[in-house]
Amino acid sequence: LVPWPGKSDLAGVRVLVSAGPTREAVDPVRFLTNRSSGKMGFAVARAARDRGAQVVLVTGPVSLADPPGVEVVRVETAEEMRTALRDRFAACDVLVMAAAVADFRPVGYSPAKLKKGEHAGGLRLELEPTRDILSELATLRSQQVLVGFAAETEASLDRAREKLRAKGVDLLVLNDVTQPDAGFEVDTNRAILLGRSGEVEPLPLLRKEEVAHRLLDRVVALHGPTTP
Ligand code: CTP
Ligand code: CA
Repeated sequence: LVPWPGKSDLAGVRVLVSAGPTREAVDPVRFLTNRSSGKMGFAVARAARDRGAQVVLVTGPVSLADPPGVEVVRVETAEEMRTALRDRFAACDVLVMAAAVADFRPVGYSPAKLKKGEHAGGLRLELEPTRDILSELATLRSQQVLVGFAAETEASLDRAREKLRAKGVDLLVLNDVTQPDAGFEVDTNRAILLGRSGEVEPLPLLRKEEVAHRLLDRVVALHGPTTP
């Protein structure tokens, strides 16, 4: 492992990170997903590793290679992500929930490919809500520090504060995903860090790796450093 220059402030801390989108199948060849590339979550996993943490990364389908020195768990659906995170939650000290979990999934999975001839007049897909993984884990927490992300198309601080409170997290990373240099697919981000006691820290345009380190600085402050 290559240590982050001058920092080993997460030495021995067990960090669980989620990343990427989820995929909810309609039939064997079709699914619903979203634009998450996984880059932000992978950047958090690498940054935590570089600061000495033991990192487990649970990721939906992304085209990114496993970061060396990180235990990677690949999942597909929101329900698989939920199970993978639940199984590992009790044994972590910090959860960073960067995944873009599907909010809805098709009610009925068709084991046979849907044929257009059988739906010539159009096809109505019925969707049901998925479970909110972060809110659920927040109810199971013992000592864990919880970090959530919020992807918004109108960066409203009030809504973000409400989300932080509703989810029961310590820190919320707010992204305005309509900006071309922030959010999905790109290597940079323009985030606002919101703390539980009302602190607001707008970050400048930064590489996702640097956003990850800023976020981890706040995690260290909440968790307490582990090495001198
Ligand atoms: N999240 C989750 N489980 C879900 C949906 C979201 O754990 N089923 C997590 C995300 O990983 C993120 C946080 O909740 O850390 C906020 O996600 P976001 O999509 O911004 O908020 P939602 O609560 O899903 O509300 P909405 O999409 O309507 O804004
Ligand atoms: Ca959502």
